[in-house]
Amino acid sequence: MSFLQLSKVSKSYEGPAGGQSILVFQDANLELEPGQSAAIVGPSGSGKSTLLNIIGALDKPTSGIVQVDGQNIPELQDKAAAAFRNLTVGFIFQIHHLLPQCTVLENVLVPTQAGHTKKEHVGVINQRARSLLGDVGLSQRVQHRPGELSGGERQRVSVARALINQPKILLADEPTGALDQENSSNLVDILLKLQKEKNLTLIVVTHSMPIAEKMDQVYRLENGTMQKL
Ligand SMILES: Nc1ncnc2c1ncn2[C@@H]1O[C@H](COP(=O)(O)OP(=O)(O)O)[C@@H](O)[C@H]1O
Ligand SMILES: [Mg+2]
Repeated sequence: MSFLQLSKVSKSYEGPAGGQSILVFQDANLELEPGQSAAIVGPSGSGKSTLLNIIGALDKPTSGIVQVDGQNIPELQDKAAAAFRNLTVGFIFQIHHLLPQCTVLENVLVPTQAGHTKKEHVGVINQRARSLLGDVGLSQRVQHRPGELSGGERQRVSVARALINQPKILLADEPTGALDQENSSNLVDILLKLQKEKNLTLIVVTHSMPIAEKMDQVYRLENGTMQKL
């Protein structure tokens, strides 16, 4: 059994009353170990975000098994699912969702404010946040507000924020979708460097084949099925 293993995962939505249900995908399989990366490519609407959300316990499959470290994630009760989302998984989205009124440092610290984070000395957490901001090249920007940063810099803040609780899995949903080419390749290099350093399982949804090919595995979601390329 792999560290992260999807077996025959299917997702459909209820159709309009009396109508047919809408199949998003069927029997998706995926296996990743710590320190491995994968890309998911496929057309818009093929279910890439849905699949990522299922892995991250933001959504539930209609059927199938989603195992992380021996636990079936869709079976987690609310509290355990919330802890899993906060501690085991880090999320990066196309839109950074930073809090505009908070500094860069404060934004990185947001995920440490949830109730289930283990009690750590505030100095230790602050040091980790500053170290991560160094990793993403923003040491000089910790007291700035998101509005004072470029799009690429803001997305790098969201990478630091995704890693502040030392997750094992990093899920990135079109993280470069709003960036130009130079910032995109810079962001991907940072993601891969941190993934290796921290032995993370990384899954990146992307429309870019050059980015996808930098990952250890590439999967394509299309017409309701997922194929490993
Ligand atoms: N709450 C919902 N109810 C019904 N259909 C949904 C819902 N959420 C997503 N879908 C449908 O599921 C499909 C996959 O969506 P999504 O995972 O966002 O695709 P992608 O990220 O590949 O663009 C789309 O056809 C979308 O319309
Ligand atoms: Mg999507």
